[in-house]
Amino acid sequence: MKILVTGGTGFIGSHTVVELQEKGFEVVIADDLSNSFIEVVDNIEKITGVKPIFEKVDLSIAEETRKLFEKHKDIFGVIHFAASKAVGESVNKPLLYYRNNINSLINVLEQMQEHDIKNFVFSSSCTVYGQPDKLPVSENAPLKKALSPYGNTKKICEDIIDDVAAASEINAIKLRYFNPIGAHESALIGEYPQGIPNNLIPYLTQTAAGIREFLSIYGNDYNTPDGTGIRDYIHVVDLAKAHVIAIERMINNKCLSKTEIFNIGTGVGYSVLDIVKSFEKVNEIKINYKIVSRRAGDIEKVWADTAYANDELGWKAERTLDDMMRSAWNWETKLRIEN
Ligand code: UFG
Repeated sequence: MKILVTGGTGFIGSHTVVELQEKGFEVVIADDLSNSFIEVVDNIEKITGVKPIFEKVDLSIAEETRKLFEKHKDIFGVIHFAASKAVGESVNKPLLYYRNNINSLINVLEQMQEHDIKNFVFSSSCTVYGQPDKLPVSENAPLKKALSPYGNTKKICEDIIDDVAAASEINAIKLRYFNPIGAHESALIGEYPQGIPNNLIPYLTQTAAGIREFLSIYGNDYNTPDGTGIRDYIHVVDLAKAHVIAIERMINNKCLSKTEIFNIGTGVGYSVLDIVKSFEKVNEIKINYKIVSRRAGDIEKVWADTAYANDELGWKAERTLDDMMRSAWNWETKLRIEN
């Protein structure tokens, strides 16, 4: 069964391709390589023994998207990751984000309708909840005004999907990810941050590798036990597996409605200081850090209510925070040896 994975050479996409192939799915990757590398395709082959089909496509261009679907007429389902994802950049270049993220969604859905492809899994984010009033946050919590154009694209895309599913044969599963980190245990695939990392884990591993002088911890005056921000960090391999389960749910006609939403997190929140301590313990490396002022746009704390995903989707995160820290460091070490 052939699955189209858009953004399949990216961080979460590449791990999902591995999990799909290990379950016997045939994968077509569509990626414009704007934020990833073609070598990922070979590294996926090293892990799984199977080279996925790769198509270099800019999905924000309708004609390129049309050609992709014309070439692969036997696609059973689409997992749509392809999107620009840097929160800070989106504030400075909102049109780039609206154009890339929304046009590509529209083009893909249009081609799915055209070719009678019914199954769609969408990469959404807990960013749509903003700072929830109640924690852990469940799928039916009200959505808040997005804090960045990037976050807003996720909200708008969710709405577009609902409308298209209501008016067509398309079924959709929207997975709202919490904070994906870590890397495949082989250290053959992982996250490639471009330039100075914005996210905590790549900044921390680069600090451990001596590339950055110190980690800035953005604020220790939040209303949390140690004052630093709390997130629900999830191992990227656990997250990847949720996509395979979502596709299998569609194959087995288990969806309860035309669009379904699942929180994909661990249900446990860790503070920035918890992360630093876990990294130091597991990898036996001291991290230089400084407490600095809060980062604009950050929420204080969020973690997932995973009951619905656990019970209804039949998926549960299995890897521990220590597993995440170990694999993140293995990946960083490998990157430094190679570059
Ligand atoms: N942090 C630091 N220092 C850093 C980087 C981050 O202290 O150098 C802190 C942040 O203040 C926050 C936590 O670490 O408390 C996590 O920050 P990240 O930037 O790693 O992640 P965010 O929660 O801000 O954002 C991530 C993704 C977004 C996504 C969002 C919610 O980057 O794409 O989760 O899903 F929208």
